[in-house]
Amino acid sequence: MLESSQIIQNRYQLEKILGDNPARPTWLAKDLQSHDRSYPEVVIKLLSLGGQIQWEHLKLFEREAQILQNLNHPQIPKYRDYFSVDDRSLWFGLVQDYIPGASLKQLLNEKKRFAESRVKRIATQILQILIYLHELNPAIVHRDIKPSNILLGKDDNIYLLDFGSVQDKPINQGGTFTVVGTYGYTPMEQFGGKALPASDLYALGATLIHLLTGLAPSELPQKNLRIQFRKYVSISEDFAIWIDRLIEPALEKRFSSARQAVQELIEGPKVKTDRTKQATEKSLVKNNSGCGLSSSQPVPAEIQGWNWGAFFLPLFWSFPNQVWIGLLSLVPGVGFVVALIMGSKGNEWAWKSRNWRSIEQFKQHQRGWAIAGLLVMGLPLTGISFGVMALLGALTSTSAGFVVVLPLAGIAYILYQSKSK
Ligand SMILES: Nc1ncnc2c1ncn2[C@@H]1O[C@H](COP(=O)(O)OP(=O)(O)O)[C@@H](O)[C@H]1O
Ligand SMILES: [Mg+2]
Repeated sequence: MLESSQIIQNRYQLEKILGDNPARPTWLAKDLQSHDRSYPEVVIKLLSLGGQIQWEHLKLFEREAQILQNLNHPQIPKYRDYFSVDDRSLWFGLVQDYIPGASLKQLLNEKKRFAESRVKRIATQILQILIYLHELNPAIVHRDIKPSNILLGKDDNIYLLDFGSVQDKPINQGGTFTVVGTYGYTPMEQFGGKALPASDLYALGATLIHLLTGLAPSELPQKNLRIQFRKYVSISEDFAIWIDRLIEPALEKRFSSARQAVQELIEGPKVKTDRTKQATEKSLVKNNSGCGLSSSQPVPAEIQGWNWGAFFLPLFWSFPNQVWIGLLSLVPGVGFVVALIMGSKGNEWAWKSRNWRSIEQFKQHQRGWAIAGLLVMGLPLTGISFGVMALLGALTSTSAGFVVVLPLAGIAYILYQSKSK
């Protein structure tokens, strides 16, 4: 019988029991030979053969040691040692780093409540660890994700514990298998011996429901094998839909990978309502500036319309906006037509010609040109530089038309400005 302060292997001084499984106790201990004197605490998982403990358990225990030894993730406790002790009975011990903190089960027992934002952060961290495990070759399926196997460290990070149930090889059809997992958290397919990465996602979903409701999944009602949790939580619809996809009884409807689950948690569900869909589409076209004149990319509705700067000053406007078609306004006889085309297509072409930081930046720039155009071309209206304009008109056919168009343009521009406000 092991007792606190007992030293085993001449090295590990037991301090207190952490795990409540009497046949397979988990102890907090002090490593008396620790190289790092400021960090002597370790966790020792022990297994004694005999009684109810079968070879099956030893197989899982040895595998746990082997797997842990090969894992390297900052949020999985590091392997330190594996040993066997042969006194009156045969003992096996697995030593790993101790992580100060409390398991989610301890926190739930203390009636701690978990808000949506906190549960999302926990989910994201567990999914990141699962991405690491599931993308190893061969994939490692934890098979026993539940609150007692997840630790909230004092450093506020989440750690995944207990690799005593892992599966690292696909199970042969027709072969024997050990059913592992915990009722309520384990999906149906796992009871049939078929544990896949998606099985860990189901267990994660059930764990999150436990955090949100304070009730173990086995205490919640079920309908068509699905945990009915909505009445017990007050969370956003998007998050509830996302959890639904984790606890789908049917494998083909469940998230197929941790990567997909985390992506949709961050980006929101793929199946969107019409309103969110429209909003996304709008935000998608926002940044297609600089896509080239011949591109068929859509132009945001907000910038479509008449461009007064391009119309009034087609030649000068062309340079900073990189719309070289404006140079044609120099050609006698067609200048005015070019100015009309520039006015109507200027926004679209300028938008596509170069990269704009935002629609607002684009609008501001064009507004500046419109004002400049009005000032320069508006002068003839005052009569001060009518002669200059006439001269310009003789030089470029563009300006000749302005005498007729300007008064109308001025009124239209004022209307346009007041409408856009
Ligand atoms: N590395 C560790 N650091 C801190 N606490 C741990 C660590 N490993 C286990 N524990 C604590 O011990 C408990 C039991 O350990 P676990 O590995 O889950 O064994 P069991 O097979 O009994 O479930 C955990 O719920 C956790 O509270
Ligand atoms: Mg455990």
